Amino acid sequence: MRCSLRTTTAVVLLLGACRAPSNSQTRALAIEPTVPPRQSVTFPDGWRFKAGEKAAFGEHFMIASNQGLASDAGSEVIRAGGNAVDAAVAVGFALAVVYPVAGNIGGGGFMVIRLADGRSATIDYREVAPRAASRNMYLDASGNPTDESIIGYRASGVPGAVAGMAEALSKYGTMSLAQVMAPAIRMARDGFVVDSSLHLGLRSSFGYIGKFDARDIFYNNGEALAPGTVFRQPALARTLQLIAEQGPKAFYRGEVGDSLVAAMTRGGGIITKQDLELYQPLWRTPIKSTYRGYSMFSMPPASSGGIVVTQSLNILEAAADTLPAWGTAAYAHLLGSAFQRAFIDRNSKLGDPAFVNVPLDQLTSKGYARTLAKTIDPNHKTPTPPNGSQIVDGMHTTHYSVVDDQGNAVATTTTLNNGYGSAVYLKNVGFFMNDEMDDFASAPGKPNMFGLVQGEANAIAPGKRMLSAMSPTIVLDPKGELFLVVGGAGGPRIITATSQVILNVIDNRMSLADAMRAPRLHHQALPDTLMVETNGLTSEAEAGLKRIGHAVRYLSGLANVNAVMRVKGGWEGVSEPRVGGTGGTSSR
Ligand code: GLY
Repeated sequence: MRCSLRTTTAVVLLLGACRAPSNSQTRALAIEPTVPPRQSVTFPDGWRFKAGEKAAFGEHFMIASNQGLASDAGSEVIRAGGNAVDAAVAVGFALAVVYPVAGNIGGGGFMVIRLADGRSATIDYREVAPRAASRNMYLDASGNPTDESIIGYRASGVPGAVAGMAEALSKYGTMSLAQVMAPAIRMARDGFVVDSSLHLGLRSSFGYIGKFDARDIFYNNGEALAPGTVFRQPALARTLQLIAEQGPKAFYRGEVGDSLVAAMTRGGGIITKQDLELYQPLWRTPIKSTYRGYSMFSMPPASSGGIVVTQSLNILEAAADTLPAWGTAAYAHLLGSAFQRAFIDRNSKLGDPAFVNVPLDQLTSKGYARTLAKTIDPNHKTPTPPNGSQIVDGMHTTHYSVVDDQGNAVATTTTLNNGYGSAVYLKNVGFFMNDEMDDFASAPGKPNMFGLVQGEANAIAPGKRMLSAMSPTIVLDPKGELFLVVGGAGGPRIITATSQVILNVIDNRMSLADAMRAPRLHHQALPDTLMVETNGLTSEAEAGLKRIGHAVRYLSGLANVNAVMRVKGGWEGVSEPRVGGTGGTSSR
């Protein structure tokens, strides 16, 4: 049956099956938000979305991801009595089946957990550089970066997804791997219906993944799987079944790993059996910060996400008790300037904390933010120093947000880095490998193939985790009740998009639907450009920004966010509207 909904027709079409309400009185029903009422917003003329749309609504739980079938997998697990962690792991494995562009078992990710009893945790299951990796491994004879960190067998870090999800489940879940993986295994074995989004994604990626073994799986004579095709993945189903039965050792010490290593060896990759055996996910202390009385739990390094979101919001809090009106040049200038300052630090100071002394306390402190806020001139932009550095992260990743009927919350972001990772598909075991090695600085201190200078703190070293921008974040309201679960995909734009959804619901008091649809902007220090979504500025705001000195560059879309927010009587969920309806919420 369908959920109880307050939603548009378009959103209804994205929703999966929902269960009938249970008789139990849930926490979600008992607690009302203690945040101010929402306010309407006017978007610039010509902006692609209308304000005032409705979000999906669930009285008891809500899951928002980039694929409705994956959200439904989480829903199925909660309906069977699982909690948010069980559901998140179910969504993660399901995305590996139904969202191969970014969902994965050949990549890695980060998960932020906040339980209704007040406990919080984060787990880092980022890939690590293989032991044979070396600082200059992606430089040619002239010292210039090659594309081997992006495409092909040498581009992969040691995958962490299976180990990380299994570890999260064993510590905070209530179900077995076999139970939470059942929907994923079923969809891999029996198939799922290819939608137009998967079809179009494959069609535009033939030049990339068509170079390797995925050609025989995702294409018929070079034609991408047609919409409506029932797509079965028997090799992946078998792999998932082995993991469900044997646990992560099937991947790291067993048949799946053996097959992975054999393929790597054949293709000239460097991941060995010992690399797999040594892989460990890491529990890390969440970054706990506050913003205007709200509390936030976010991801520490090896992701930069938690530090940079926290630092940006701290700068904004220090800069103004009340932000300038949303949509004005003053607002965009202040946000852009805060992001610029936080990214200057990010790009030069952050890396794997096992290898680099990360000044986390300083970067996330209110005092440091006050110092940086004072450097923002309301009338003039500050140029990024030419010796500032920039790290470019892959643009395809996927985030999902889960809240269960007890008020437990999970924010997870996972990635292969670029869409379909390194393009290397392991056909015997049925999955794509990541190209996460490109998230390292291949040539610290020297411009890379895009003319960018990258940070020494993120240089390649064996066993090191590459810096990420993934920003899974959980926000509590001023009374300490769960308020928002959010995060996104899109390389460095993850950080600024996640921050803006938070600002939109806290400072600008938008509904979640408006907060997600509002035009986004982005500044990452270098290039020293204020990036804005096309038609996302009024002409007055654009003229104002130019007067202040910003180089404004328009882009067709910035990031891909999936979020859940508490509202009166339950939860709203919105999956990214910019990606043409591929996402989906699932709720009751
Ligand atoms: N591969 C994208 C990121 O980790 O930020």
